[in-house]
Amino acid sequence: MVFYFSGTGNSRFVARNIARAIGQETADITSYTKNMERPSFTETGIYVFVCPSYMSAPARAMTDFIEWAGFPSGIRAYFIVTCAASMGITPRVASELCEKKGMEYMGAAQIEMPQNYIALFTTKQVEENIDIIEKAATEIERISGLIKDGKTIGTKKIGAVEYSVTKWVRDVYYKDFMKTTKFKATDKCIACGKCVSVCPLSNITLKDKKPSWGKKCTHCMACINQCPVDAIEYGKGTAGKPRYKGPDSALKQ
Ligand SMILES: Cc1cc2nc3c(=O)[nH]c(=O)nc-3n(C[C@H](O)[C@H](O)[C@H](O)COP(=O)(O)O)c2cc1C
Ligand code: SF4
Ligand code: SF4
Repeated sequence: MVFYFSGTGNSRFVARNIARAIGQETADITSYTKNMERPSFTETGIYVFVCPSYMSAPARAMTDFIEWAGFPSGIRAYFIVTCAASMGITPRVASELCEKKGMEYMGAAQIEMPQNYIALFTTKQVEENIDIIEKAATEIERISGLIKDGKTIGTKKIGAVEYSVTKWVRDVYYKDFMKTTKFKATDKCIACGKCVSVCPLSNITLKDKKPSWGKKCTHCMACINQCPVDAIEYGKGTAGKPRYKGPDSALKQ
């Protein structure tokens, strides 16, 4: 099984392509987390976990899911992190998680995909994103081949200092900066409800025909990027920046 968490579609795209190449099914972890039904998986063999890099580590939505769900002991676990630049301390986070859950750690690999963090960084134009996605396809094929052959996909060692500093920054960021107070819908909003349906944490409701954000946000950037009329802004820094509509939409251009 290839499990994925994805805000703007990069990790879903990678998960689907890996699953196709290795002859497995995909599962969106939010289909379990949204209704709080703790799954207990019984299938033995290989499990692949695909998610974005958030603050130089795998998105917490994924690591929390792996901690929470039941898996048979001894399964072989692969970790694939999509990122704009680096998966950071993922190898150590993933190997420690495997130890805790009694899984065999088969390595972690990164796939560079378009930047989606519009609240903090500059998102790219569609043409540049298409180049990035096309390069990623080669890496997806290489990694899928290794998984298919039962090989490890990279067992990079992460030093103690890098690990503890990154973990500290990540904890502070999740606690103090992943807030929704800066999200606003402008007058362009047509009350279509897309932001409500794309939020993987069901954190948005429509009130008086405008989105209203709750407190469960993980800053996945799906709402602001996927709004069909670009009506969502985050503070003052997002006006005029290109919205990232995801790999499928970029490749259709
Ligand atoms: C909250 C947040 C934090 C991010 N942190 C990093 C990071 O530390 N390093 C990096 O290379 N990319 C980072 N990114 C970029 C994403 O990892 C990248 O665009 C990813 O492919 C998005 O995947 P998705 O479309 O499946 O949500 C971050 C994006 C978000 C939204
Ligand atoms: S997706 Fe955009 S237009 Fe649709 S309800 Fe949300 S903010 Fe309004
Ligand atoms: S509110 Fe927006 S940024 Fe936050 S988790 Fe939902 S879709 Fe992602």
